[in-house]
Amino acid sequence: MEVIAGIRGLRERRELMRGGVGLVPTMGNLHQGHLALVRAAREECANVVATIFVNPTQFAPSEDFESYPRTFDEDVAQLERAGVDVVFAPATAEMYPRGRQGLTTVSVPALADTLCGAARPGHFDGVATVVAKLLHLAAPHRAFFGEKDWQQLALIRAMVRDLDIATEIVGVPTVRAADGLALSSRNQYLTPAERELAPRIHRKLCDVRDAIDAGARDFGQLEADAAGELRAAGFAVDYVAVRDAERLVEPEPNTRSLRVLAAARLGGARLIDNIGADIAVGA
Ligand code: PAF
Repeated sequence: MEVIAGIRGLRERRELMRGGVGLVPTMGNLHQGHLALVRAAREECANVVATIFVNPTQFAPSEDFESYPRTFDEDVAQLERAGVDVVFAPATAEMYPRGRQGLTTVSVPALADTLCGAARPGHFDGVATVVAKLLHLAAPHRAFFGEKDWQQLALIRAMVRDLDIATEIVGVPTVRAADGLALSSRNQYLTPAERELAPRIHRKLCDVRDAIDAGARDFGQLEADAAGELRAAGFAVDYVAVRDAERLVEPEPNTRSLRVLAAARLGGARLIDNIGADIAVGA
């Protein structure tokens, strides 16, 4: 496995790759969720490139960019064991040599300002911009993203479609702890007591999905009930929302593929999660 820090080095190494190339973009601090992305890439692509880059442009000044957990040596060892061919791990100055001021930015307004985007203004412009850069640099046939960040996945799919980027975006199912909590690097901000409480988010999403399966169609009421119960349990809820799975707008009468999404703060951690809920024709 090669670790490459420079754009020129990555481009030269990419020129030598024969067969399919799979890209797994990460911010490091890897857990089983990331390794599931690598496994999917390894199964489908002859060459696997993983990236480790804590992207400053997707953090607001008040957020945890400085304290975001950085575990580079451990991450590299895990990626090597998982069979990655190349790790691209650039410094900030390599990715943004002219700084952030006046930076050309990719924006996906239809999906960037709702849900998590409403609570984190500018976040998804930062994500779209860095992912567009990584897709240009690694020119992968496929790129792998976790379904846990459903809004991010939907936004990247829309960006790739709108910009005619020749990469297939592959969503990989969320990896959960035994009690249902979606794995996330930010789970380590939870105290033991908060960690015990945290799986309730997933359970509430399952309750909403089960109610929809059973025929409930007053989505506003389902959202309000679930948010109220999470608040009563101690969460500071940003949203619980039932949305069209692809466009993330409120469901229309003929919407069949739904996503139930939630974001809530618990102590120092902002937790997000989502699950699918499909409505059969005629149901
Ligand atoms: O999901 C993440 O870890 C990041 O948002 C990504 C896609 C690597 C872009 O920085």
